[in-house]
Parts: sequence; C-alpha cells; structure tokens
Amino acid sequence: MWLFRVTLVFVVGACCAYDLGPAQRIKLNDGRFVPNFGIGTWLGFSRKGDRMPVVDDSVEKAVGWAIEAGYRHVDTASIYETETQVGRAIQAKINAGVVMREHLFVVTKLWNDRHLKEDVVPALKESLARLKLSYVDLYLVHWPIPQYSNGTYYDADYVETWKGMIEARDQGLARSIGVSNFNVNQLDRVINLTTVKPAMLQVEVNLHLQQPELLAFCRQHNITVTAYSPFGELVSSRATSTTPPPKINDPKLVEMARKYTKTVPQIILRYLVELGVIPIPKSVNKQRIRENLNVFNFTLTPQDTAVLKSFDRGYRTIKPQFWKDSKYFPFEK
Ligand SMILES: NC(=O)c1ccc[n+]([C@@H]2O[C@H](COP(=O)([O-])OP(=O)(O)OC[C@H]3O[C@@H](n4cnc5c(N)ncnc54)[C@H](OP(=O)(O)O)[C@@H]3O)[C@@H](O)[C@H]2O)c1
Ligand SMILES: *[C@@H]1O[C@H](CO)[C@@H](O)[C@H](O)[C@H]1NC(C)=O
Ligand SMILES: *[C@@H]1O[C@H](CO)[C@@H](O)[C@H](O)[C@H]1NC(C)=O
Ligand SMILES: *[C@@H]1O[C@H](CO)[C@@H](O)[C@H](O)[C@H]1NC(C)=O
Ligand SMILES: *[C@@H]1O[C@H](CO)[C@@H](O)[C@H](O)[C@H]1NC(C)=O
Repeated sequence: MWLFRVTLVFVVGACCAYDLGPAQRIKLNDGRFVPNFGIGTWLGFSRKGDRMPVVDDSVEKAVGWAIEAGYRHVDTASIYETETQVGRAIQAKINAGVVMREHLFVVTKLWNDRHLKEDVVPALKESLARLKLSYVDLYLVHWPIPQYSNGTYYDADYVETWKGMIEARDQGLARSIGVSNFNVNQLDRVINLTTVKPAMLQVEVNLHLQQPELLAFCRQHNITVTAYSPFGELVSSRATSTTPPPKINDPKLVEMARKYTKTVPQIILRYLVELGVIPIPKSVNKQRIRENLNVFNFTLTPQDTAVLKSFDRGYRTIKPQFWKDSKYFPFEK
C-alpha cells in the first residue's frame, strides 16, 4: 500500500501538467475541500429588471478563460440557463489536458419549482446532463421559497427539500450539499431537524452588506460561506441613483488600491478572502477574469481592513421583494 502510494505520487508529480491555481483550499464540515475563489456565471438583470437573456456563448468563453487563468471553482444554477455552456467549457478544458475533473469544484443549484423531496434527485440529474458531468462538487438549495414557474406558491417546507438533498448526496450525485439565501433561523431549523448539516451557505456579502451575524452563526456551526455579488453595487454596471457610499471612485478605496498597486475590485475581493468567505465574481471579460483572481500575492494591513469594514451599511443588492408574500421569505421586508 505504502509503495503504491509513493509510486502514485511520483507519477502524478512527474507529469504535473495540471496546476491547482492560486486559490487556497478550505475544509468543509463534511471533510471535503473547496477552492476559496470561484467564477460566477449568472448574467444578471437588465436595467429594466428582467433576467438578461442567454443568447450567445459568452459564458462558455468566460469559463474557458477562467480555467486557463487558474480558476478551479465554477458557480452556476439551473435558473441561470448557463449550465450547458459551463459544461461545454469544462469538457473542452479537460479534453485539452488543461485541467482534471478532480481538480475542479463545480456548483449548481436547485430551483424553487423542484422543492418537493422527491423532485430533488430528478432535478439534479437534469442539471448533470446539461453539465455533462456525473456529479457536482456542491449542490445548493437556491432559495428557501417553493414557487412554480407560473408564480403560484406551493407548500414544501425547506426541511423536506433538504431531505431530498441528503438523498442526492447519498446517491453520489453531489459530493457536498448546502443552501443559499437562508437566514439564521432557517439554517437553525435545518440543523435541528435533520441529520446532515449544510456544508455551505451561499449569500450576498460585499462592502455594503457584510453580514456579521450570519457569518458568526456559520463560524459557530462550521458552515463555510460563499459570497455572491461580491461587488454589490460598486461596479458601474450595477450602480443606481440610490446606491450608498462607497462608490468605485471613493477616494479611500482609490488611494488604497494605488498603495498596493492593485485595482479597487481587487481590494474588495482580497478583503472578502481575508474575511474567510469565498468570493465568486462574475465576469465575461477575459482581462477582468484574470484581474479578479490576482489577489493572492498581497495582504491588507489591519488599518485598511478596518476602513473596509466601516463601509458596511446592511444594504442589499439582491432584494427579491416580489417574493415577500411567501411565508419562507428569508430577508427583511
Ligand atoms: N445564490 C444566489 O441567489 C445568487 C445571487 C446572485 C449571484 N449569485 C452568483 O454569484 C455570482 C456573482 O454575483 P453577481 O454576478 O450578482 O455580481 P458581481 O460578481 O458582484 O458583479 C458582476 C458585475 O461586475 C462586473 N465586473 C466583474 N469584474 C469586474 C472588474 N474587475 N471591474 C469592473 N467590473 C467588473 C461584471 O461585468 P463584466 O462581466 O462585463 O466584467 C458584472 O457586471 C453570480 O454570477 C452567480 O454565480 C448567486
Ligand atoms: C469543521 O469540520 C471539519 C471536517 O469535519 C473539521 O476537520 C474541522 O476541524 C471543523 N472545524 C471546526 C472549527 O469545528
Ligand atoms: C401553476 O402551476 C402548477 C404546477 O404546474 C399548477 O398546479 C397550477 O394549477 C398552476 N396555476 C395557475 C394559476 O396556472
Ligand atoms: C434549535 O435548537 C437549539 C438548541 O436546542 C435551540 O436553541 C434553537 O432555538 C432551535 N432553533 C430552532 C429554529 O428551532
Ligand atoms: C502579483 O502578481 C501579479 C501577476 O503575476 C504581478 O503583476 C504583480 O506584480 C504581483 N504583485 C506583487 C505585490 O507581488
């Protein structure tokens, strides 16, 4: 056994065309590891508030560039309608010998219309077919809200949904399972009433919304946190007339970026990494994809960390008020 292991390490070491990228690996509460930086693949809302249509291959290209640049963690969801493109990009990079499946961490999510316990495994199988994968590294309940695509709410307690998630993990279709957009009380109920703790909580975390209570709860329960919308409304593509400070051109941020010879987006992403959460910035631009990942060769001073912390306003970028009538609505109304 020992000899076999040595041989294996030697063979892998000798070929070593594969690299793990600059991100560090965080151990989840189920013993698996997740790279602490990923790429987002949601195209977002248009200014009018509709979901951006997925019309071209921009996400496929972006994920390909990301893997080449050293990203090893990809975030998608069935509702984004980008799973097919993510799957094509991954397949192409594996076939080209750029990366091995085992070195990638692929995340997808269960949509609100499949929350009945018996619907979870079939929904995941459909995602896997689109992704051309036999398993995902992490499957998340996207929202705690059960709603059909025609807008009708139905009753499916997320605790029952979670039991379907456990089944998916038991069948090997998802290596780890977690939730997204759950509040403290909802997490606590899942923990109290089922046998498997979520390994991950994916929520909005950025300078405007730093989530100190939720993060403390997760730390206490050994639940790792992924930070979605890591830029909040700081980037010009998201800024509105009601966005609170700081803006991307805030003098303190600009000065800080200059001091480290980094950009303001890099300062924000580095702050999130040091906070212990996993940012998953979305970009479909090759240069910005590279820029965003390049945050692993500098450290913020405690003074600068304090300045960045002081920007917390408890202000949400993603506020789905259209779901406020659901009894499972997770946020302040
Ligand atoms: N679980 C959930 O409910 C949930 C909700 C929201 C998001 N997410 C996930 O989190 C990911 C990230 O969140 P997000 O897409 O909402 O927002 P984000 O990553 O904070 O911001 C994306 C926006 O920033 C721009 N951008 C990216 N890098 C930039 C840079 N270096 N400089 C200037 N602008 C830059 C992008 O434009 P370009 O593409 O043109 O660069 C895009 O307009 C999503 O893609 C999705 O995977 C999950
Ligand atoms: C979290 O869980 C992992 C896996 O079981 C374990 O190795 C680690 O020590 C735990 N961390 C804390 C802070 O409990
Ligand atoms: C909405 O969809 C559900 C599930 O398909 C169906 O049972 C329900 O009757 C529909 N409601 C309306 C108002 O169309
Ligand atoms: C979960 O259990 C803990 C410990 O018994 C208790 O303090 C807490 O109130 C429970 N939470 C919920 C939401 O039931
Ligand atoms: C960080 O890495 C980038 C890209 O490799 C390089 O251009 C930059 O000089 C490095 N910065 C520091 C502080 O080492």
